[in-house]
Amino acid sequence: MKGVVILGSTGSVGRQTLEVIRSFDKKFHLVGLTAKKNHQELSKQVQEFNPPFAALTNEAKEEIGAASWIAPNDLVKKPEVDIVIVAIPGLEGLLPTLTAISHGKTVALASKEILVVAGQIITEETLRSNANILPLDSEHSAIWQCLAGEEGSDIRRLILTASGGPFRQSKPGDMLGITPKQALAHPTWRMGPKVTIDSATLMNKGFEVLEAHWLYNIPYEKIDVIVHPESIIHSLVEFEDKSIKAQLSYPDMRLPIQYALSYPERWTNESMDALDLIKISTLTFEKVDEERFPCFRLARQAGEMGATFPAVLQSADEIAVELFLEGKLDLPTIPEYVKAALEAHSPKENPAIEDILEADKWARSYVLEQHDNTA
Ligand SMILES: NC(=O)c1ccc[n+]([C@@H]2O[C@H](COP(=O)([O-])OP(=O)(O)OC[C@H]3O[C@@H](n4cnc5c(N)ncnc54)[C@H](OP(=O)(O)O)[C@@H]3O)[C@@H](O)[C@H]2O)c1
Repeated sequence: MKGVVILGSTGSVGRQTLEVIRSFDKKFHLVGLTAKKNHQELSKQVQEFNPPFAALTNEAKEEIGAASWIAPNDLVKKPEVDIVIVAIPGLEGLLPTLTAISHGKTVALASKEILVVAGQIITEETLRSNANILPLDSEHSAIWQCLAGEEGSDIRRLILTASGGPFRQSKPGDMLGITPKQALAHPTWRMGPKVTIDSATLMNKGFEVLEAHWLYNIPYEKIDVIVHPESIIHSLVEFEDKSIKAQLSYPDMRLPIQYALSYPERWTNESMDALDLIKISTLTFEKVDEERFPCFRLARQAGEMGATFPAVLQSADEIAVELFLEGKLDLPTIPEYVKAALEAHSPKENPAIEDILEADKWARSYVLEQHDNTA
């Protein structure tokens, strides 16, 4: 039995991970669950899965049911832990992820923000400690699956697919009056609020380009993105001989989660539907419109500039998204704030974790200041 920890167990990825574990309960034992403040859901989970540890990071250090409180950073290094699922938006999972890696654990990573801001540090530490990072993002899981058995093959291009989000067909002017409710209505995926808004602005796809760069050690110029509204092809790899491999399935996060948990095996899960290609019949592709979705371009630029720019990108975006969700900002202002923060930032090359956290703090207060000045 593999010992599993889930950071962010009450969220969309966390709950779907528990669904997979419920289907294969003989193969896993839960060592710990953490969330921020959702006491009710975490208590339910503790009652059902009976982990020895559980914690709400924003609340008092209380026991939840029969589970003892523990700081996430201490939880992930417990000897009985084999896999740590990191599914917390933003940077909160950064330090526990680094700790898990430095203790040689396998980290199944949904929180792409961590690789966006600290890709260099995470990859170096993974190599040093002989740990493993397994992608949970469906696109990166697809690439991982396409690369299986291709160890000696040269890659010509990684092609990430994007659903295009709810505003794929809207005109630039239409974006002004968009409400949080409209932006939260993603056409193909059910996700937490931060990643859903990032999907609507295509910032999420930009983050995924940086994530792919670090996970697969591929230069940015070899990473393309195409819009594929049906979200059936989750990503593709083009090899030097111009042959392309793709991974297809219905959009269901349980599949990449299960693959990371079952790897290197594949398991039968009757609760997931087999793909019916005749019923789907048509798959379509479009170019990304970078004029209408400036967040996508900003993310790529920040990745290429490196240093502490990706940290500023992430944190400025996080605060701008929060302001939008509170109804204090229009959707098109998100990239404006992010761009202003990137332009005003004094970067630190080869940043250490402290530099990244400093850049994060700076970007947050910069955006809030900008907002106060314009409000
Ligand atoms: N959802 C998807 O389909 C999907 C797909 C690919 C990648 N991802 C990535 O996975 C991550 C999680 O996404 P999600 O959609 O699952 O988010 P979500 O539904 O908003 O869930 C977030 C989880 O993290 C916890 N959390 C939030 N802030 C925290 C903090 N400061 N400290 C500790 N725990 C905190 C939440 O606890 P409470 O419930 O108590 O607030 C909840 O358990 C994101 O990085 C996202 O980009 C998500």
